[in-house]
Amino acid sequence: MDIKDISGTTTLRNGIAMPVLGLGVYKAKEGREVIESVQHALEAGYRHIDTASFYGNENGVGEAIRTSNIPREDVFVTTKVWNDDQGFEQTLSAFDSSLKELGMDYADLYLIHWPVPGKYLETWKALEKLYNEGRVKAIGVSNCLEHHLNEILENFEIVPMVLQNEFHPRLVQQPLLNFCKRNNIQYEAWSPLMRGEVFKLDILKELADNYNKTVAQLIIRWNLQKGVVTIPKSVHRDRIFENADVFDFVISGECVRRIDSLDRGERTGAHPNNFMDHFRDN
Ligand SMILES: NC(=O)c1ccc[n+]([C@@H]2O[C@H](COP(=O)([O-])OP(=O)(O)OC[C@H]3O[C@@H](n4cnc5c(N)ncnc54)[C@H](OP(=O)(O)O)[C@@H]3O)[C@@H](O)[C@H]2O)c1
Repeated sequence: MDIKDISGTTTLRNGIAMPVLGLGVYKAKEGREVIESVQHALEAGYRHIDTASFYGNENGVGEAIRTSNIPREDVFVTTKVWNDDQGFEQTLSAFDSSLKELGMDYADLYLIHWPVPGKYLETWKALEKLYNEGRVKAIGVSNCLEHHLNEILENFEIVPMVLQNEFHPRLVQQPLLNFCKRNNIQYEAWSPLMRGEVFKLDILKELADNYNKTVAQLIIRWNLQKGVVTIPKSVHRDRIFENADVFDFVISGECVRRIDSLDRGERTGAHPNNFMDHFRDN
């Protein structure tokens, strides 16, 4: 994984280069808000945007990229198939809808948003088809544990290239990271800033001060040094730039270990084994 500067990438198991830092757009409102967020990110040098059909803002993401002066092929775009759209045929048609919203003729990465029980293997079959047809450059999964990945590894030819999971100082899941490393699956962090909760941990402020960096920068840097692709979300220009200013310092091994030690197995989102109830109730 190359983390020299914002153009740094990691090479996925199929040879595709994935930028190590991206902009997350969950809860960025469709229309002006998401368009401006993506514009700020592109200006700051980000070349990776993470959206999903569930976020309802693929259209704005596509528009911001299309109207920038940056060639489509220079921006890595991830989108995801939502839970209600899973199954073989439904996934194929959900993918078509996503591309239509994005106004693009391919996606860089298509992910299964959550492993819907009884459906996600069929969904994976559809992702394999889309990949084999060249409609998506890479495929992967999100919100999976080792047992979900093993199901896919045992039943399919294509191994997920990426696993996008909740990852922050309170939820490290080091054994899962190790499993991914062994199987050449790139780990990617969602909610790297714990949706803002990292700022409440005093110890992080202390550690960040040692480097004259902010807590957000410390944590983003910690993600990268752990070999984790990261997609912090902000709709504010200054924060989007701040979150990208993480390539001029290196945190010590001791500091990495101190952040690791804050792990409590705590989630801000649903658990991969019982998320269906969570989404029914929310
Ligand atoms: N696969 C999945 O199931 C899944 C689930 C959740 C998220 N995701 C992806 O991961 C991305 C990131 O996760 P997330 O959006 O949940 O949370 P996050 O990136 O951990 O945190 C975002 C929050 O932190 C604030 N923030 C950002 N930078 C800041 C800074 N430098 N200083 C102070 N506050 C800052 C943002 O506020 P402002 O926007 O107001 O600046 C926002 O409230 C999402 O946007 C989405 O693309 C995927």
